[in-house]
Amino acid sequence: MNTSLKNKKILIVGGSSGLGIAVAKHASGLGAKIVIASRNASEKHGALGEAVGHNIETYSFDVTSQGEISTALKKIGDIDHLVITVRPNINPAPFETIDIKLAKEAFETKFWGQYQLIQQALKGINRKGSIVMTTGIAGEKIFNNFSTMAIINSATETLCRSLAIELAPIRVNVVSPGFVAPKPEAVEEYAKKFPLKKITTAEKVAETYIYLMESSYTTGTSVVIDGGARLI
Ligand SMILES: NC(=O)c1ccc[n+]([C@@H]2O[C@H](COP(=O)([O-])OP(=O)(O)OC[C@H]3O[C@@H](n4cnc5c(N)ncnc54)[C@H](OP(=O)(O)O)[C@@H]3O)[C@@H](O)[C@H]2O)c1
Repeated sequence: MNTSLKNKKILIVGGSSGLGIAVAKHASGLGAKIVIASRNASEKHGALGEAVGHNIETYSFDVTSQGEISTALKKIGDIDHLVITVRPNINPAPFETIDIKLAKEAFETKFWGQYQLIQQALKGINRKGSIVMTTGIAGEKIFNNFSTMAIINSATETLCRSLAIELAPIRVNVVSPGFVAPKPEAVEEYAKKFPLKKITTAEKVAETYIYLMESSYTTGTSVVIDGGARLI
């Protein structure tokens, strides 16, 4: 297949499950060289390689640790694209009862994790390559009990636009997903109100990461893939 990702090296941080592994599978199918990282990715090397279906490299590091990021990036070497899909450990909660420690840890993982990873990875990213971060529609759309995720996503989208200017010609974009399967029955039911009447799959969302890596004239953009959920 004729694709700009053939033989390109893509580091997917948060690639050991969910959206990240779906991106790994899709990009690998297009001939890209896949490097998967997460806190426990190397421990799962065999299973991840089987899931992706091609030879991959795996590295374990925590995006909240500057030292771990630095050590791993030295081993990984130069890359063409950086995709970040790390998920913070936080559940929806009413503002009045939010555990502030958990809220700060979530910011530390998803916002500062993406920020410091990009800062350190920068010198090894191909100038014709790109960075794709992950946000989510909470932020653009206000949901009850999602205040922490909303501010993290909004801050990340602002970071994306700032870096698109500062880091050019390296392109910097964001994927903003809505509701991705599997989800509880109640969410499936809620999704019937969306313009497109359903939640989506990680495989479908992965197409957006691929688009942003391949689209050589797109930068500073957040691509929403939510079936119209933010509009209701
Ligand atoms: N799924 C959805 O419905 C949805 C909707 C909107 C937005 N999003 C956003 O999309 C992103 C990905 O979500 P997902 O559903 O794909 O999550 P997921 O399946 O839980 O995967 C999260 C990944 O992040 C890694 N990770 C977590 N903390 C880390 C850390 N401190 N350092 C390094 N790696 C870390 C995990 O591996 P280890 O445990 O090995 O570290 C795993 O590879 C998140 O930012 C999420 O907020 C998801």
